Amino acid sequence: MTSCCANSDKPMRSSALQWPWILLNVSLYAFALPWMLSAIVNQYFISKDYDSTLPGLDDTAARIFFISAHMGLGLICLLLYPLQFSQCIRRRFPKFHRWNGRVSLLAALFTSLCGMVFICLKKFHLVGGINMGIAFFTYGLVFGTCAVMTGYFARKREFRRHKNWAIRSYSQILASMLYRYFYAVLGGFQAVHFDPEEILNCDEMDVCDYFLKPFDAIHAWTFFIVPLLFAEAVIYLLRDQSKEQPTDGMHLSQEGEESCKHEEEESPGEQMNNNDNADQTKPESEVIDKSKAEASPTNKSAPQTNFIYLNSFGALFALIFLGSTVFIYVTSALGINTFSV
Ligand code: HEM
Repeated sequence: MTSCCANSDKPMRSSALQWPWILLNVSLYAFALPWMLSAIVNQYFISKDYDSTLPGLDDTAARIFFISAHMGLGLICLLLYPLQFSQCIRRRFPKFHRWNGRVSLLAALFTSLCGMVFICLKKFHLVGGINMGIAFFTYGLVFGTCAVMTGYFARKREFRRHKNWAIRSYSQILASMLYRYFYAVLGGFQAVHFDPEEILNCDEMDVCDYFLKPFDAIHAWTFFIVPLLFAEAVIYLLRDQSKEQPTDGMHLSQEGEESCKHEEEESPGEQMNNNDNADQTKPESEVIDKSKAEASPTNKSAPQTNFIYLNSFGALFALIFLGSTVFIYVTSALGINTFSV
C-alpha cells in the first residue's frame, strides 16, 4: 500500500506489486480532498454554515463545539493516516512514524468520542432518526476501538496485530468519506435528489423525512460494515500462508521476498508472532534485521503472503473506485449529478 524504499534492491518489481493499492488510495483521495476542503473547511469552518446539509448541528453551543471538534479531528485523521502505511517513511523516518501515529490515533479516538457525545446531546435522534443514532454510535465504538487496539499493540510491540488493527482502523477512517462518496455516485445516476426544501422538512428533534428513506436507513449501517469486511479480506490475504503451502517453491513468494512490500508485510510482525513474542523487548531495528534473515529465499520455513491474490483484489477495487471517481467528476461537470445541495 506504499511506495518502495529508495534503498531497495529491486524497486521496479516492488512498485509493480504496490500499484493497485496506490491507485485505490489516489482514486479515493481524489474525492476526499476536495470534499474536505469544500465541506469541512469551507462550509463549516469558514462559512459557519451548519444547517444546510444536516439540520440541528448548531442548535446549542455544546453541539457546535463537539461537532466542530469532531470534524476538525476527523480531517486530521484523513490527512495523516495514509502516511502510516508508507514503508519508506517508516524506515527512513521512524520518529515521524511514531509521532504521526500517536497524533493520528489520538485524533481518531477523539473524533469518535466527540461524535458519540454529539449523538448523546441529540438523544440519539440524528437526522435519520434513532436508527441512524444507534448506527453512528456503533460506528463510533468500532472506530474508537480500532484506534485504541492499533496503539495498544504498537506499544506491546506485537507488530502483526498492530498492522492488522491499523488496516481495520484505516477502513473506518475511509468509511466516513465513503458515506458521502456513495451518495455522490448515486447522484451521478440521479438516484438520489438533494432537494434543500425536502432536507429542511424536519421535526422538533431535527429528524428529517429526507433521511428516513430505506436506502438511508440501510446505508447508515453498511457504510462502515462493508469497509470493515474489506479490511478483514485484506488481513486474510496478508496472513501467513506457510502452513497451507509448501515453502520449497519460490513461485508465489519470490516476487514479494525480493521486494520492499514483502519485507514490510513479513516483518516484523509475522516473525514476532511466530516466535512466541520472544522479540518483543528488543528494539524494532533488531527485529527487522532478524526477520529479514528469516525471510530470505533460502529459509524454507519463512512465512509467505499470497501477493497474487492480494494485489488482484486491490487491482479490482482500484479500477472500480477509479471508474466511480471519474464518473462523479464527469457527471458533476455535465451538471447532471444531483448530489450537491
Ligand atoms: C475521519 C473520520 C470522520 C470525519 C472526517 C467526519 C466528518 C463529518 C462531517 C464533515 C460531518 C458533517 C456532516 C456533513 O457535512 O456531511 C459529520 C457529521 C457527523 N458525524 Fe462524522 N466524521 C468522521 C467520523 C465519525 C465517527 C467515527 C462518528 C461516530 C461517532 C461520526 C459521527 C457523526 C455524527 C453523529 C454526525 C452528525 C449527524 C447528524 O447530525 O445527524 N463521525 N462528520
